[in-house]
Amino acid sequence: MNRLLEWIDDRFPLTKLWNEHLAKYYAPKNFNFWYFFGSLALVVLINQFVTGIWLTMSYKPDAAKAFESVEYIMRDTSWGWLIRYLHSTGASAFFIVIYLHMFRGLMYGSYKQPRELLWMTGMFIYLCLMAEAFLGYLLPWGQMSYWGAQVIISLFGAIPYIGDTLTLWIRGDYVVSDVTLNRFFSFHVIAVPIALLALVMVHVIALHEVGSNNPDGVEIKKHKDKNGIPLDGIPFHPYYTVKDIVGVIVFLIFFLAIVFFWPEMNGYFLEHNNFIPANPSVTPEHIAPVWYFTPFYAILRAIPDKLFGVIAMGAAVLILFLLPWLDRNPVKSIRYRGTLYKWILGIFIVSFLALGWLGMQPPTPAYTMFSRIFTVIYFAFFLLMPIYSKLDKTKPVPDRVTYK
Ligand code: HEM
Repeated sequence: MNRLLEWIDDRFPLTKLWNEHLAKYYAPKNFNFWYFFGSLALVVLINQFVTGIWLTMSYKPDAAKAFESVEYIMRDTSWGWLIRYLHSTGASAFFIVIYLHMFRGLMYGSYKQPRELLWMTGMFIYLCLMAEAFLGYLLPWGQMSYWGAQVIISLFGAIPYIGDTLTLWIRGDYVVSDVTLNRFFSFHVIAVPIALLALVMVHVIALHEVGSNNPDGVEIKKHKDKNGIPLDGIPFHPYYTVKDIVGVIVFLIFFLAIVFFWPEMNGYFLEHNNFIPANPSVTPEHIAPVWYFTPFYAILRAIPDKLFGVIAMGAAVLILFLLPWLDRNPVKSIRYRGTLYKWILGIFIVSFLALGWLGMQPPTPAYTMFSRIFTVIYFAFFLLMPIYSKLDKTKPVPDRVTYK
């Protein structure tokens, strides 16, 4: 084995890569529960790739056959139901894991210097993930697939001058049709997954360049022993590989329980209307995207003007890119930040969840009013950050990580 390894190492830096990224990558020893979600995101990514490849073997990207082919996968293909449920539940699981992963970043200030680029690569991943989910949702060619795509694509029509041409260009037709399905399929199975994979590699390379942050928000690279090894660091392998396996097992228990016993999740993971084949002449009474998009959908609907609604919805996502520069407080971790920031972050999370709920409801006047209030809070969190992050009275940050 050693000779084989030497032979490979002479031709490819296998041991070097293994050491740099695993055996000699020193991660802070005080990682907690919140640090499971990065590796879980990788697990879900792999699940989506593998199940996606197998689904593609039986799926037909043809408006006349797509719905039937999904039914065929569910009923006639061996284990097809399992592969499809792993993929559809995987989509929601991806967003749950990613939202928790991002929330961890907010709590521990992981977007701050020197991790601005790491955060931004994460944001590009998030954009790709949204595109991937949106494109994939058209493929079963159910009523919600069809009308959801119709609504979202028509939003581009709000752009002055080029709007109509742009929507036509995206759809490839005057309505969502077979042409649209074909191009969405192509992007969903090839273009976006390649971009996602490349971005995840860039994300991990960026992480390993600057090193992980941790729940104390102190830089472990500041205190090194005589060999240059951080005093508060432990090798990622075997310590965190083993620890992450525990996280993966716990995650799989929950994930598979849903896959086997509750895959539709009462219409939250697989919407009821999507069990009806797409019908271009019957608009469903209530069109709402899947839960992971609803906070942004609520923001879109909160604003009476279509163009400004679209701008606000886009801005709600893009503003997250600016987080490293909006936060002016030098203290990273929530553990040492003041009560002010804790309250504001709490209120922000409540508004995000409330917007998510409101985005699923029919737009009654009362709900619209609440959506407006929470939209204001959502944006205030970011826009006022340069002010309140400076006012916040912080606690002294320890020099070394705290670990019991
Ligand atoms: C496919 C999606 C993603 C994958 C596979 C992924 C993977 C990872 C992994 C393996 C880690 C190290 C382990 C950990 O800290 O949990 C990490 C760290 C990090 N990720 Fe992601 N990530 C993804 C998406 C995102 C997104 C959407 C953001 C934010 C916009 C983000 C921001 C970060 C940050 C700031 C860190 C460093 C955290 C710290 O050290 O405290 N990631 N990511």
